[in-house]
Amino acid sequence: MRELFRMDRQNYNPGGPVYTRPSARGVVLKNGRILLNHIAKYNSFEFPGGGLEPGETPEQALVREVAEETGYVVIPETIREFGIVVRRQQDSKDPDGIFEQMNYYYYCEVKDETVPRKLDEHEIVDGTEPVWFDALSIPIHRTRKAFERFGEAHFDREYRVMEIADLELRKTCYEATEEAGILAVGKDIPEMLDFVKKTLGETQTEGEGGVGVHKTEFGYTRYEHTKRVLAWAKRLYDATPDKTGLRYDDLMIATVFHDVGRAVTASRGGNHAKAGVPITRDYLLGRGFDADRAEYIAGLVGAHSDKWNMRNPDIDRNLLMLMEADLLDDMGLLGIVMDTLIVRARKEDATFYDCYNHYERYTHPMQHDCPVVTPEARAFWDEKTEAVEQFIKLYRRDILIGAENYKGYR
Ligand SMILES: [Fe+2]
Ligand SMILES: [Fe+2]
Repeated sequence: MRELFRMDRQNYNPGGPVYTRPSARGVVLKNGRILLNHIAKYNSFEFPGGGLEPGETPEQALVREVAEETGYVVIPETIREFGIVVRRQQDSKDPDGIFEQMNYYYYCEVKDETVPRKLDEHEIVDGTEPVWFDALSIPIHRTRKAFERFGEAHFDREYRVMEIADLELRKTCYEATEEAGILAVGKDIPEMLDFVKKTLGETQTEGEGGVGVHKTEFGYTRYEHTKRVLAWAKRLYDATPDKTGLRYDDLMIATVFHDVGRAVTASRGGNHAKAGVPITRDYLLGRGFDADRAEYIAGLVGAHSDKWNMRNPDIDRNLLMLMEADLLDDMGLLGIVMDTLIVRARKEDATFYDCYNHYERYTHPMQHDCPVVTPEARAFWDEKTEAVEQFIKLYRRDILIGAENYKGYR
């Protein structure tokens, strides 16, 4: 089993006798919820579980302990290894000895029906009660606070394991959401996105976001941008009542490919939209698209960066929607976070005030400079503008005494 982390006090004689006490604990899940024990005495939480009895395997101990403490019955087939935490310190009874605790953690699910609980003496005294939480709302902070207050290694271990479990559960949830979202755009979209990802490459050196700062310094990639633009294109399409002239599949495919040309221009410079045309055309022809359609989609890619063209009343509606989707990304609250990262990347000792200046200088006026034209895109844009306005106003109040009298840019 993989080691999650090690807690070694190194306060023992390394050659001394080792006294081991293994335990097994469960990250018990059911229908998007997680089961934890509340310990009233410390107002903290812990994973259900406990020490192995002689002859028991960790899995057997897990099933027994979860049932005893919570009344829930683990379904054996759902048990999956999570990880192990090794704790080593001087033994409390033998000062020459080493106390070693192997804590085995497992993911598992439980049945609906419960059995009577069987708490031991200290569990009753401490006030142990099982509580279900939303799996993405593990009360880590409460357990960390218990550690800060009581300093016991037990709390230290539990809150750190909670942090790891929480990260994994979040990642699983995020990835499942994204996968379903991409598939909902179209059945061929995942494969095309994959091609674009590989073509763009993992490391792009595209410079943007101010003097000497590469967006990639803080993890900005064209591939992530492409997925976000795809989401905006779908939102815009869904929000548009009159779909005359819109070609859903072609629009989505063009969106996937719209910045693929950056793979070429990142190193050699030039027009990334034009550079994307042959890449898109070749891909589509290779997938059996007829020549006219491949040409049309590649044409959308080639024309997407001529944003001045957006006010042309005869503009192709698919092209316009692609451009508006492209513009909706990187703005609003994502823009605020991105600008914060930019400020920090430029200046290592950047302060709250430096960030504020940047927001007022760039984020705020750019947000007011609305380039989108359709009412649907405008509604999304206005929503972002409102959030930015509110953010800057309240942020200023947070950092500036006398902010109520501030007479600067509004
Ligand atoms: Fe672009
Ligand atoms: Fe783009």
